[in-house]
Amino acid sequence: MKKYKYQLIALFGSALMFTGCGNQNGESSSNSALASNNAEKVYVAPGEQDEFYAFMSGGYSGNLTVYGLPSGRMFKEIPVFSQFATSGYGYSEETKPMLNTSFGFVPWDDSHHPDISQSKGELDGRWIFINGNNTPRIARISLTTFETEEIIEIPNSAGNHSSSFITENTEYVVAGTRFSVPVPQRDMPINEYKANFKGALSFISVDPEHGHMDIKFQLMMPGFNYDLSHPGRDKSHGWFFFTTYNTEEANSLLEVNASQNDKDFIAAVNWKVIEEYVNNGGGELMPANYAHNVYDESTHTATSTMKKEVLTVDPLKVPGAVYFLPTPKSPHGCDVDPTGQYIIGNGKLSADLTVHSFDRMIEAIEGKKFDGEAYGIPILKFEDVLAGTVKSGGLGPLHTEFDGKGNAYTTFFISSEVVKWKLGTWEVIDRKPTFYSVGHLMIPGGNSRKPFGKYVVAMNKITKDRYLPTGPELEHSAQLYDITGDKMELIYDFPTHGEPHYAAGIPAELLAPKSKKIYRLDENKHPYAVTSPDGAKVVREGNEVHIYMSMIRSHFTPDNIEGVKVGDKVYFHITNHEQDFDVPHGFAMIGQNTSELLIMPGQTKSSVWEPKKPGVWPFYCTDFCSALHQEMQGYVRVSPADSNIELSWSLGD
Ligand code: CUA
Repeated sequence: MKKYKYQLIALFGSALMFTGCGNQNGESSSNSALASNNAEKVYVAPGEQDEFYAFMSGGYSGNLTVYGLPSGRMFKEIPVFSQFATSGYGYSEETKPMLNTSFGFVPWDDSHHPDISQSKGELDGRWIFINGNNTPRIARISLTTFETEEIIEIPNSAGNHSSSFITENTEYVVAGTRFSVPVPQRDMPINEYKANFKGALSFISVDPEHGHMDIKFQLMMPGFNYDLSHPGRDKSHGWFFFTTYNTEEANSLLEVNASQNDKDFIAAVNWKVIEEYVNNGGGELMPANYAHNVYDESTHTATSTMKKEVLTVDPLKVPGAVYFLPTPKSPHGCDVDPTGQYIIGNGKLSADLTVHSFDRMIEAIEGKKFDGEAYGIPILKFEDVLAGTVKSGGLGPLHTEFDGKGNAYTTFFISSEVVKWKLGTWEVIDRKPTFYSVGHLMIPGGNSRKPFGKYVVAMNKITKDRYLPTGPELEHSAQLYDITGDKMELIYDFPTHGEPHYAAGIPAELLAPKSKKIYRLDENKHPYAVTSPDGAKVVREGNEVHIYMSMIRSHFTPDNIEGVKVGDKVYFHITNHEQDFDVPHGFAMIGQNTSELLIMPGQTKSSVWEPKKPGVWPFYCTDFCSALHQEMQGYVRVSPADSNIELSWSLGD
């Protein structure tokens, strides 16, 4: 066994080198013969709009990007876990609290898996969730404003990777830890990992009206690595499935030591049973410290609250809560088909796909047909839960999506391909190369009861020769396949931003009509808002100066301010008085140690400036808003710290 493992690893090494060094250009230039036919399929003529939105995770950009399909045009980058100078997110006084954590202000994360809210197993387009992988957090983004509205930190977690997937009525968004850690965190020898570290699987309830998140419970699992997860749906609604690797519980050289077991597990978690247990007073409150950050759309301001305890659940105390399904070769992706019957485990060190049957799993549980246990959790027999095996002939399967017509599509990282196969017969129908080394793939709604099986997007890790070179650093590449026929057809390449891991797609008609156009000025409840131009003023409170400013094409009110001194802390609170769609204004102040602000119609944002030198210092609008945009400017006079100049402000005379 061991020898086989090493051979496999050696094989992977050389396959990687092949993708790394080989130039598959021959293949791609022969594709260009197809280009004229395919051009029509992706061509969205000037003035026309795309059929789907695609939300691509930004990976190490920490953000979420919005694309159109089939055009591959990028519409927006939504700041989530990273400061974003384009809008001032994470720089403005209102949004800094969004990035607060128990580790302090953390202005970056590694965002991986977006998932759109659902009702009755279908995309409902209210919110999209995404995980911060590094400093464990889950964010909720409004699909009306396309802004991040809420971020909750996940305690007792590390490498928040099997996240953020939602149940079919958005009852829960789930966050699973990739790294097991001491719970509670403490100073202890690393090599005492085994049997001492824990893997927390967090179930975060989502308030159906406002979407507010709250950690309902954390299931304290054995110290394995919980890699990916997906909810049951339809018949398996009420269950959640998590892949594990490192069931060996190695704490060093995992590439070898975590590949010893022939099979790891998919953990099947019956969250309905645990929910009932918790609702009846079960579980144990544990001291914790984690941030809950909420952005209020009426005050345009975020607040951060530190939460002090979390409810933990020991799986052994809830009969019927958790079972292990043996799954070969360090499974990565864990995907559930639209009927909820099949649970696909993609053994990343395997050539085959393992498909488990939900019905067979329930039978085996009812018949108590167990094959031992791990830390008290029953292990089902592999043969008893297996529905079938897809003998694909590929190498390194990662993720699977579904078209709603009985077909599944799996990515193979090492052999760089997407393989289409049939649910139930497990036969491979088609396979197409990707350029190169595909990770996730996405079919709009592919993770729901109702996929929209027109396109699949492959998200590739290596770009190489697909675009004009831009130095050593290239954007990752996505590829679009038409999947309406028996055979997949590669129709388009487009670069993406950051490193898209997963993505979520939705028909444009479900989002576009409700997309917000302006914030209403008469609904603006920001404490420093100026809702009429005569409300503009400047107020000194000790060494703090608060400038209540308004802006409209093409001036600031006020635009001349005197009486500010070196050593003051100057807050610009600026309200955009426009009430037309797509008329933002910007604000930038010379020497300010922060970014500009981009302020939407009806919105108020604040920026702090600490003037260092006496002088007369200009500010201006950064967004080309009108023919007189260049005239949209003003001055602040800064006097020495001991000056007696009174505060004054003006506009015109
Ligand atoms: Cu306002 Cu440019």
